[in-house]
Formats: sequence, C-alpha cells, structure tokens
Amino acid sequence: MNHTLDTAPAGTSPAESMTPLESTLSDAKQAIPKKMRALFQDRYGEADVLQIREIDVPRPEPGQVLIRVDAAGVDRGTWHLMSGLPYLVRMVGFGFSRPKQPVPGLDLSGTVVVTGSGVTDFKPGDEVFGIGTGTIAEYALADAGKLAHRPVGVDTQSAAAIPVSGVTALQALRDVGDIQPGQRVLIMGASGGVGNYAVQLARHFGASVSGVASTGKLDFVRLLGADRVYDYTVDDSLDGSQHYDLIIDIGGRNRIRALRQALSPTGTLVIVGGEGGDSITGGIFRQLSAMMLSPFVSHRLRTFISNESSQDVQALAALMESGVLFAPVEKSYELEEAPAAIADLAAGRVRGKAIIRIGESA
Ligand SMILES: NC(=O)c1ccc[n+]([C@@H]2O[C@H](COP(=O)([O-])OP(=O)(O)OC[C@H]3O[C@@H](n4cnc5c(N)ncnc54)[C@H](OP(=O)(O)O)[C@@H]3O)[C@@H](O)[C@H]2O)c1
Repeated sequence: MNHTLDTAPAGTSPAESMTPLESTLSDAKQAIPKKMRALFQDRYGEADVLQIREIDVPRPEPGQVLIRVDAAGVDRGTWHLMSGLPYLVRMVGFGFSRPKQPVPGLDLSGTVVVTGSGVTDFKPGDEVFGIGTGTIAEYALADAGKLAHRPVGVDTQSAAAIPVSGVTALQALRDVGDIQPGQRVLIMGASGGVGNYAVQLARHFGASVSGVASTGKLDFVRLLGADRVYDYTVDDSLDGSQHYDLIIDIGGRNRIRALRQALSPTGTLVIVGGEGGDSITGGIFRQLSAMMLSPFVSHRLRTFISNESSQDVQALAALMESGVLFAPVEKSYELEEAPAAIADLAAGRVRGKAIIRIGESA
C-alpha cells in the first residue's frame, strides 16, 4: 500500500476526487502530528534517566503500523532495556553504550493511525493491542504480525497489560511445559506479571495449582485461582514434601537441584526467568546448565524466549472476553509518572500488572 496521495484534478476538491480508501488514508495522514510526547532515555541507568520529551512521531516501515497509544504496559523487559542490565542485553543488539531505542515500552493498546506498505490485516481506525517498540509515548510503531484486534469486551487498560507477560505465561505452560489436565503445577513467582497469568491459565488448563509469592501478595495469588499458596519468605515450597508434574520457574532463581527435588519422577521444569543474577549475564548459566543436564536425567528441564505471536495475543484476548482470564491492573500511571511505574515494578511494589495511561480513552 502506498501512502503517497495523488494530487486532485483541477476543479475538484481533494476530498471529492478521492476513493474511500484514499480518503481514509488522507484523514489518517492529517491525523498524524509531527511531534509527540514520549518517555525518553539517552543513556542506560535507573528510572532517573527517564524524562518526558517532545520528539518526532515515527513513520511506519513496510509491514509496520503506527498506533495512537491509549495505554502501555510495563514489564521486566522494559526495566532491562532501561537499565542495560545484565550487560548481555547490550551485547545482543540493543545498543552497547546507549539504547538504540531511546523510548522504552513494549506492550500497547491503541488505535491504528496509518499502516505501512504490505499491511493487510489492519486499517486506520482499528482498535488494536500487542507488542510494539517505544510504546510509552503518544504514538508507537508495531510490526503487524505482533498485533491483534482488541475485542469489544476488553478495555484498553486490560489489553495493554496482556501481551508480553500473557504470551510468555501461555507459551511456558502450553508449548514448553506441555501442561495436561489434572497435573500438579507449581508457579514460582505467582504474583507478578508473568506469574499471575500463569496461575490463571494453569487453572484454565485443568491443573491443580500451587503458587509462590511474598507474604503481602498471597491473598492476591489465591484470588487468581491458586489452590495452595506458599510464602517464600517463610516456607520452603521445594522441600520435597510435595511433588509437581510441572514447575514454572519465574522468580527466586532457585538452584536446579532444589527445583528437581520438588518434581515428580518424569516432571518438567520450565525456567522463564528470575531477577538478581550477575550483572554481566543475569545468571543465564542456570538456564544453560538445565539444558545441558536435561538429556541425562528423567526430568525434562527447559527454558525458552517467548515468541511475540499475534495469534497468542488474540487467544489471550478471547479468553479475557469469555471471562476465563482477567488482567489484574493494580496500578495505572500518567505518562509523567512512568519513571515511578518502572521503579515500582523493579522494587516489587506491583501486584500483577501496571500500565501507563496515555490516550484520553484509557
Ligand atoms: N523467557 C522469556 O521469554 C521471558 C519473558 C518475560 C519475562 N521473563 C523474565 O521472567 C521474570 C519475571 O518477569 P515478571 O514480569 O513476571 O516480573 P515481576 O512482575 O517482577 O514478578 C516477579 C515475581 O517473582 C516473585 N519472586 C521474587 N522473589 C522470589 C523468590 N525468592 N521466590 C519465589 N518468587 C519470587 C515475585 O513475588 P513478590 O512480588 O511477591 O515478591 C513476583 O511474583 C523476569 O526475570 C523476566 O525477565 C522472561
């Protein structure tokens, strides 16, 4: 699709001479301002490197969509890209001495303003959500393949709280963990962004769910549907008194040996992540050693990086629309408060998800 509009013939107003599609594109084009407000960082660091700046509105490349953002989600990935930690993040293409993408944020919900060439699934005016780049801004770009239409029954704040965390939880349980009805599942880190969805989805898949979190968040984990909860500040959920068919390891960075002690003889461990590793690699050797050990033991030891698929974003939205899943947005922040939102997340002060309200309808 080419967004360059032909000049109208003499004697006709531009609007009269346009086809409906050209007219829509013209409206969209006029709706794009040159400048926008965005959260911006020109160096790595803690939340104090973030400031609100007026910058150019990005233009979509082929296959991309420009979205007027209503709400943006925050997640641990946003924090890693802000801080540049572990250093491995910088080495895998995000910018060595400074972030290549100076506007943070991955999750978004909003309205399509204009589409790049080759985009056929979306058109200006569509309400969408999914995974983009630089989403903590008034406008952001996303690859069309990482977006889905927002169902009528899912509000914009909830939609912004789903994509990265929800897709990760879904893929950990279904694709990597091969969850089956009736299994006993332990979610380490059940109160966070990924964990809350993991608890809800594991219940949906027919498992009996135990969740591990800190003292003040145990009621929240029960509310999500966990059958049993453990407080990691006092309980040892891995002491071997209970055995699980599947452990989803999201927080705590427990040793592989300890996690295996709580697995049934042919159980599966899925390592999603965990904060607090060393500053160079983030402790990725835990994941690597699990992968290397797996062929030699009866347990399946797995790790993965989530695949940002629009089908899974859509599948989660359908579960939300049918009432199976809810987005626990505990806190929402104005754009100006975004640094505080990211600091709160990093300090463990958020239960479930936090989002940034940007558009008027959020
Ligand atoms: N593999 C992937 O593709 C992928 C995708 C997304 C995220 N991740 C990674 O997954 C991890 C979690 O992300 P998130 O967004 O869910 O983070 P989050 O919202 O900060 O949640 C962290 C969770 O870990 C829990 N936790 C902290 N210390 C613990 C301990 N000692 N024992 C058990 N649980 C503990 C927290 O509980 P309290 O809050 O109650 O303290 C919370 O439930 C991060 O390391 C992130 O980078 C990986």
